[in-house]
Amino acid sequence: MEQKDLTPESPVVREPEPVTEEERLRRARPGLKDWLELRLGWWGFVRKNLDEPMPPGVGWWQTLGNLVLTLLVFQFVTGIALAMYYSPSPDTAYQSVKHITENVTLGSFVRGLHSYGSSAIMIAIVLHILRTFFWGSYKRPRELTWVVGSVIFMIMLGFSFTGYLLPWDQKAYWATVVGTRIIATVPLVGESLLVLVRGGEEVGALTLTRFYAIHIMLLPAGLIALTGLHLYLVRRHHIAGPVTPVKGRPRPFYPSQLFKDAVVVLVGVGAVVFLAIAMPPGLEGVADPTGTDFAPRPEWYFLGLYELLKIMPPGYEVLATFVIPGIISVGMLILPWLDRSRSRHPGKRQLIIDLAMAVILLIGLCTLKGILETPPPHTPSEASHSAAAPETATMAER
Ligand code: HEM
Repeated sequence: MEQKDLTPESPVVREPEPVTEEERLRRARPGLKDWLELRLGWWGFVRKNLDEPMPPGVGWWQTLGNLVLTLLVFQFVTGIALAMYYSPSPDTAYQSVKHITENVTLGSFVRGLHSYGSSAIMIAIVLHILRTFFWGSYKRPRELTWVVGSVIFMIMLGFSFTGYLLPWDQKAYWATVVGTRIIATVPLVGESLLVLVRGGEEVGALTLTRFYAIHIMLLPAGLIALTGLHLYLVRRHHIAGPVTPVKGRPRPFYPSQLFKDAVVVLVGVGAVVFLAIAMPPGLEGVADPTGTDFAPRPEWYFLGLYELLKIMPPGYEVLATFVIPGIISVGMLILPWLDRSRSRHPGKRQLIIDLAMAVILLIGLCTLKGILETPPPHTPSEASHSAAAPETATMAER
């Protein structure tokens, strides 16, 4: 039998490419720009992202992620600026915010950017979640992108809950009293958790220090790490195309998609800047723990939860404070494994779409009810006759 020759072919020896004298010198002693590029590979990184292929059919809906990212950067920058003047103690917090608003150059504007920015980010992030949900983008291989995103969303809620207390005015104080009280309804460990979060039995100095530390250290650290991971995963698995494939070839991110992103970012940031100038955020009276007639007004994106609590019959509050939010949060986290249908098309995911619509409707209607029934600022509570009254009174007693 004929034996095959298994010896590897001798390697091809290539002649080195001729290098010009200038190129040789550049490599030997590069200028600062070239040296940085050689060490960091920064331009290569930017180029790679600009060349990222976008499947045909991708367009305006895919701009929301970058809008969230830009608004986040704004929140960090304005937050750092505010932290330069803010003083987190019950004796000084209110005065320091008043000082920022009334005396510091651009203080009111920066405060406005931070305050409206937090609402804008919530709207953008909810739209981003809805778009990725309806496009079925959480399915294989993007399960982890979705899970990391879900945790980011919870961190964002944490930011807003802790930030709301910082001005230490009546609105901040009473919303936190009611908000933290909700923690006590967690079965078995509720009361201990309440004391842990408040730093004592009541909302006071330790609550403020604790919320400030969480707001400026714990949550930002988690958010930066998870946002980095989220973006890495988005790049690793690339953006999903439309649910019904569109004919055509993928196009690079630059220039077409970058242009759309820039337009949406300009509109989003523009709206925040406009509101910060036209309607600078106010400040109510300093927190008064002895007053019992203040109607708590949580931030608008917590109103849904608060309304749900108000409509619950006595004895069933735990449904609104723990059971329903818990089911929705866990459902969101494990969604990629709950919905095992192969298709990303909404028409072929009827059950999960119906369930999501029910949740969206519940949250939407409760939030709307809350917005319509929220008393205007500075109005003492009329809630003494409403369903929230026992809650308010109980809070005041604590
Ligand atoms: C800090 C907050 C977030 C940032 C900066 C961010 C950023 C982005 C960006 C830039 C993209 C690609 C462009 C786009 O699809 O819009 C993306 C995609 C994605 N995001 Fe987010 N995101 C955030 C939060 C979330 C949340 C809360 C979720 C869901 C719970 C989520 C789920 C996803 C998924 C599944 C994709 C892949 C989309 C696809 O391939 O079609 N993200 N994100």
